[in-house]
Amino acid sequence: ANISVLPVPFDYGAGRGGAAHGPAAIVEAGLPQKLQSLGFPYVLHSSGYMPDIQFDLRTSAQMKNWGRVLKMSEAVAAATAAIDAAGDFPLILGGDHSIAIGTVAGLAERRQRLGVLWIDAHSDLNTPQTTPSGNLHGMSLAAGLGRGDPRFVSLRGAAPKLQPERTVLIGARQLDAGERQTIASLGIRCFTMHDIDRRGMSEVMEEALAILSGAGCDGVHLSFDIDSVDPGEAPGTDTPVRGGLTYREAHLAMELIHDASILTSAELVEVNPYLERSGRTAQLAVELIGSMLGEKI
Ligand code: ARG
Ligand code: MN
Ligand code: MN
Ligand code: MN
Repeated sequence: ANISVLPVPFDYGAGRGGAAHGPAAIVEAGLPQKLQSLGFPYVLHSSGYMPDIQFDLRTSAQMKNWGRVLKMSEAVAAATAAIDAAGDFPLILGGDHSIAIGTVAGLAERRQRLGVLWIDAHSDLNTPQTTPSGNLHGMSLAAGLGRGDPRFVSLRGAAPKLQPERTVLIGARQLDAGERQTIASLGIRCFTMHDIDRRGMSEVMEEALAILSGAGCDGVHLSFDIDSVDPGEAPGTDTPVRGGLTYREAHLAMELIHDASILTSAELVEVNPYLERSGRTAQLAVELIGSMLGEKI
């Protein structure tokens, strides 16, 4: 099976522009060379599958640019489902985190018991009723769990796409009040930075992976938001939050994910090359993908 790299140059789910250029930055930082050096056959898709969203101006205060996000999500869901159906490993490059509305919907088409490992400073569990910003990148996990606007929740049919007992969060340190409520009421496992500080990344990942291994998943998707990493290492992102994963912790998490051999797809999102000159965030993304695929550093 090939690794099928799907770029999603999209940033209307975020509060500012730039993340649409994340995929190009990650490719330029050496992702193809990395995949090649690790010996993986890969295909790098063009973004020609993306619809023309320029003139879709549908928006609201609670769901900014929802017309564009919806069109993108439909296209990403179709493209992701096709890669998955072909037996290839979907590796999706964002783009802001709203793209996960599409990727999760696409994967859930063949996988009704999809597990998801959500590594993020945030939980992206807002709904149009709880969002403090109106930005859809803060609502993507909620949509997967069946919460929010029906157009997003029921993309390509049945909802919900995900179940709380197969959803695990890692690295959370900025949760809104409504998100905390959702985590508590649904009983979602959330390993915060506090947990990582107290117990160490190794033990936290071991438990997180054991939860997913024991949850009867028919696939596990990694949704990695680069803002999970400390802004000192990953400054090029829209919503940085102090006190994040160290460089070593992020790599260790990826290495342990690889060693567990449970991943069936992955996405790396929220790299915004406009917010830095150095290119270090995109480079970190390439390195982390390397560790996820078995590289040990
Ligand atoms: N919780 C905040 C919001 O809803 C921030 C979300 C940030 N999400 C992200 N994918 N970077 O607006
Ligand atoms: Mn742009
Ligand atoms: Mn996120
Ligand atoms: Mn985030």
